[in-house]
Amino acid sequence: MKKQILILLLPGLIGLAGCGNEQGATATIDKPAAPAQRPPIERWYSQVQVARGNALFQENCASCHKPDASGTPNWRETNAEGKYPPPPLNGTAHAWHHPLSILRRTVRMGGVPLGGTMPGFGNKLNSGQVDYILAWVQSHWSDEIYRVWHERNEQASKPIQPINKG
Ligand code: HEC
Repeated sequence: MKKQILILLLPGLIGLAGCGNEQGATATIDKPAAPAQRPPIERWYSQVQVARGNALFQENCASCHKPDASGTPNWRETNAEGKYPPPPLNGTAHAWHHPLSILRRTVRMGGVPLGGTMPGFGNKLNSGQVDYILAWVQSHWSDEIYRVWHERNEQASKPIQPINKG
């Protein structure tokens, strides 16, 4: 069970190293390019969606992920049962490594199918509501985090492969 979550987390950790290289490669001077030198990527959502998402997040998600999406600071550490705590969703942890399709699926299915404990919301929230919530979540991400997420999201055009349980 614990292993499956690790598999889920690993590509993200590798990705983190990748971000640093990417920054260096685009710099034209010795120092890495400052965020201010690159215009921010336009967000996929509107402020109306963010506001609707806030209300839905407070109602459905805040009890675990905290009202400001800051989650559990030591989100990498499992508890006595080997389960992970609710991670931050505010751009400081791992959620931004996932393309929109995976974020949507996580909210719909929850973490239980992957050995986690988050309940699925597929029966409670429709796809529009899930997107409002994700808009609110992403509104906490810095322009730099959003940029890296955006690039990954563009690349993730292939259909999602189920995790091999064999
Ligand atoms: C009962 C507690 C609980 C509730 C309620 C909950 N979550 Fe979670 N969430 C978790 C836990 C714990 C994890 C870590 C994976 C696991 O154990 O399932 C998680 C993981 C996630 C992830 C993956 C983050 C990552 O770093 O990959 C996302 C995205 C997420 N939750 C969004 C939501 C949203 C949106 C809602 C509300 C619709 C919600 N969660 C409600 C406990 C919860």
